[in-house]
Amino acid sequence: MADSASRFQDPTLVGTRIRAQTANTIPADLPLERDFGEGTDYTITDHVRELHAKLTAPQSPRLALVMDRLVYHLHAFAREVGLTHAEWAAAVELIGRAGKESTAGKDEVVLMSDCLGLSVLVDEMEHPRPKAATEGCEEGPFYTKSFPEVPSGSCISHPDTVGQPLFFEATVKNTKGEPIQGAKAEVWQSDGEGTYDVMYDTPPESGADDRARIIAEPNGYFSYRGVLPVAYPIPDDGPCGTMLRALGRHPHRASHLHFRLTAPGYDSLTTALYPSHSPFLGTDPVFATRLSLIGDLEQAEDVGKWKEWGFDEADVRKRGGKVWAWRFAFVLASKEEVELERQNRKADRITPNTKL
Ligand code: BEZ
Ligand code: FE
Repeated sequence: MADSASRFQDPTLVGTRIRAQTANTIPADLPLERDFGEGTDYTITDHVRELHAKLTAPQSPRLALVMDRLVYHLHAFAREVGLTHAEWAAAVELIGRAGKESTAGKDEVVLMSDCLGLSVLVDEMEHPRPKAATEGCEEGPFYTKSFPEVPSGSCISHPDTVGQPLFFEATVKNTKGEPIQGAKAEVWQSDGEGTYDVMYDTPPESGADDRARIIAEPNGYFSYRGVLPVAYPIPDDGPCGTMLRALGRHPHRASHLHFRLTAPGYDSLTTALYPSHSPFLGTDPVFATRLSLIGDLEQAEDVGKWKEWGFDEADVRKRGGKVWAWRFAFVLASKEEVELERQNRKADRITPNTKL
């Protein structure tokens, strides 16, 4: 038999488009040796896996492993639930919509991953932290690259930003309880209407509101003044919203402050903190609420305290006559601690050499 190269260029065997494509790249070919069939000892699952083992594994062992397990579990899932054609078509339509209805500020595929818990799982595997370290959670869609850098103690809200006054203070320590030097805390949050600066039709002239990179003091302490965030819904006008409604779930995120903490020598921490008074803590659509991240806030009515923290008394009175005080102790894991955790957990995973 003629070799593959000449067969793929033979006009009596292949059409013009294959000939044009294979003029430079010769696709791998194999003889068809056996038929597959459901209920036999060689199913479509075996056939797809065998093809990947032969064609993909030699050029990319990791891709072959990932795709092998994906095909295996996807087919097992379809058999287990007896997936009907109508259900398959509905899923295909939803996934298609996720692609078509994604915009620059709203990635429906990421939202679906968040709402199915996949983002949490990948994040936990990517950033395994020792127990003593603060737990992380998703960054969400409202992180931006531009954060005004301000010293600890600054106000991060514009004077006309809606919301009740908030004083937030925190310490940043390592797992041995030592203060961390050189820590920076990026904070971004909604205002008192549940809206982020980037969501407004006319974003603030300064480019940021309720968002700042705060330089912690040398002893790892930092604070800021702002407004109390409130609960808000994740975008639910697209396929992710359709999915949540079908599942009897709501899109409302509990109130929260987002943080990204960095310090030289330490694993960066992306997390969020939640006030215990917020609704939706137990039904968060993106599974980002953790018990260790929920805290009780104080309501300070002492004018002396307001002044000590830098608030204007008349402004506080106009906004309800109290300042919410929120404290948290962040614990960062060192890069070495995270690497050690990662190696320990890796030991449990399969590799391209695992016999399955
Ligand atoms: C948020 O905090 O707004 C958010 C986080 C994850 C997914 C969607 C929204
Ligand atoms: Fe958020």
